[in-house]
Amino acid sequence: MCGIVGYIGGREATEVVLNGLQRLEYRGYDSAGIAIYHPDAGLQLRRSVGKLINLQQRVQADPPRGRVGIGHTRWATHGGVTEQNAHPHRDASGTIVVIQNGIVENYLSLKGRLIELGYQFESQTDTEVIAKLIGHYYQEQRDLVAATRQALQELRGGNAVVAFCIHEPDTLVAARLGNAGGIAIGLGDNEQFIASDIPAILDYTRNLIFLEDHDIAVVRRDEVTITRLDGTPVTRAVHSIAWDPVAAAKGDYRHFMHKEIDEQPRALMDVLRGRIDQERGLITLEDLRLDDQDLRRVRRIYAIACGTAWHAALVAKFMIENLARVRVEVDYASEFRYRQPILQSNGERDALILTFTQSGETVDTLAGMEEARRQGVPSVAIVNAIGSQAARLADGGPIYLHAGPEIGVASTKAFTSMLVAGYLFALRLAQAHGTLTPAQIREHIQALVELPGKAAQVIEQVTPVCVELAERYYRVGNALFLGRQINYPIALEGALKLKEISYIHAEGYPAGEMKHGPIALIDEGMPVVCIATRDHIYEKMISNVEQVRARHGQVIAIGHEGDELLAAKANHFIGVPATLPLLQPVLNVIPLQIFAYHVAVLRGCDVDQPRNLAKSVTVE
Ligand code: F6R
Repeated sequence: MCGIVGYIGGREATEVVLNGLQRLEYRGYDSAGIAIYHPDAGLQLRRSVGKLINLQQRVQADPPRGRVGIGHTRWATHGGVTEQNAHPHRDASGTIVVIQNGIVENYLSLKGRLIELGYQFESQTDTEVIAKLIGHYYQEQRDLVAATRQALQELRGGNAVVAFCIHEPDTLVAARLGNAGGIAIGLGDNEQFIASDIPAILDYTRNLIFLEDHDIAVVRRDEVTITRLDGTPVTRAVHSIAWDPVAAAKGDYRHFMHKEIDEQPRALMDVLRGRIDQERGLITLEDLRLDDQDLRRVRRIYAIACGTAWHAALVAKFMIENLARVRVEVDYASEFRYRQPILQSNGERDALILTFTQSGETVDTLAGMEEARRQGVPSVAIVNAIGSQAARLADGGPIYLHAGPEIGVASTKAFTSMLVAGYLFALRLAQAHGTLTPAQIREHIQALVELPGKAAQVIEQVTPVCVELAERYYRVGNALFLGRQINYPIALEGALKLKEISYIHAEGYPAGEMKHGPIALIDEGMPVVCIATRDHIYEKMISNVEQVRARHGQVIAIGHEGDELLAAKANHFIGVPATLPLLQPVLNVIPLQIFAYHVAVLRGCDVDQPRNLAKSVTVE
């Protein structure tokens, strides 16, 4: 979840590293630091608590010079948010600096051993243990790569590490252990870049190498050499990235989240691009490495994900079961990985793992995929970040969202794109299983094609009423979100959006369950968002609306535009266009995103970087 940047070449390293950190600040923003080296000025370390701006101001007052350097933006795990705990950390001689993303699970025992050997520690972090350990072995080996290799072999957990030593000023060493953090190496012309996340270096290069688990790279101005941790040489492919860095800039928007909400019509178009053939009623998922025969074998799907992506998996269950008649079990990745799931029974090879992840770096999701691999079950990843670990781990292929970088911590466009990607996958599966005819698929394609336009219509139509509702309710302490069936996960998502960016306590509930407990919470001060677009369960939702009103709750109803019955029963009504019931969640969630956004703004919250959160959750 921390951000890592490194540079070696002909430019001023401070500029490149700070620019990269700025693009990564969404990953962690407790503190930040850089270490830049110049033969005359030596190793120049600058660290600051709080947002990157504090470090930038410090650097401006006293700019480090040099053509090689590393930088880090932190999301605290071990040790509080203090300057001492900010990275980079130093070895005992002060000549080696290290930055890390991940957790050293055995850091206490390693630290104990180092203390016994006489080492003293400046911080409470696990990263300083890595720095001291590398320094310790450097004393014997006088070789940074060898010392790093030896130190890393003793670590337990998942880590992405970058190290630099002033005695070897032409080298940066980068390594990846496990899934806690990816490392991309950007190849330039007589210069190289290192980053935990692609947007950090896209301004400089589009040619990237991704380190695999247990890879260690020696990065010099004119060459990058990769070996396994045991020293075996390996070659890793160079990927060319087509993202537009401008897409990662805020433009005229005050917040990325607002920009990303507005980008949804385009994102919904991009996820469809090249994948639908309306004339022939055909779905083509070009990245998928499973053909018709492989797909026909799939009788059970385990969908795993975290947070908002887990809500997308819950929606996809309805889509897949309904369209392809294939059973889907949905799990939190953090639960799945530890529950010893039985993925194959009676030797039948009919299971598939389907993961949903925006970043492709969520450690629990990756662990779930690895569990699948151990049990010989293929996996498919619905993923946004190109070349991310999930995309590479998915032996059945990634299904890319092509939503462009999502910077706001609260996921919006990636979520709606995931729903559409899930729908495409469900149709592709239905095509292989023969549960839908081409003519039926054509009707679904028609609804998909109309979806981006309808999303644009939603954004335009509902914004004024969402702003009004935000003004009315932004001071409440609690809120309830109710939905049924495929709209139950949308109730969960609406509640999550509100709580994570506005810090209002909110709960999502299946509306039918309300009378088994949460109804006790309802009084005249409680806003209850009811998702009640017309479907087979509409009348039941209307009864739930009435039950809330009877207890004087304030009903904010999301319904189809022109639904006068619902509008008359609710205190407030938000109308959205109709689409196929299985696609309706894509439109229903948009007002909930806009409402949450405006509530958070009115409460003066830090919308893009809410407290305690980070965009990529690469630790457990
Ligand atoms: C909430 C949010 C998170 C993520 C979760 C998984 O708005 O964005 O709940 O959905 O951390 O992240 P990814 O999708 O990167 O695996």
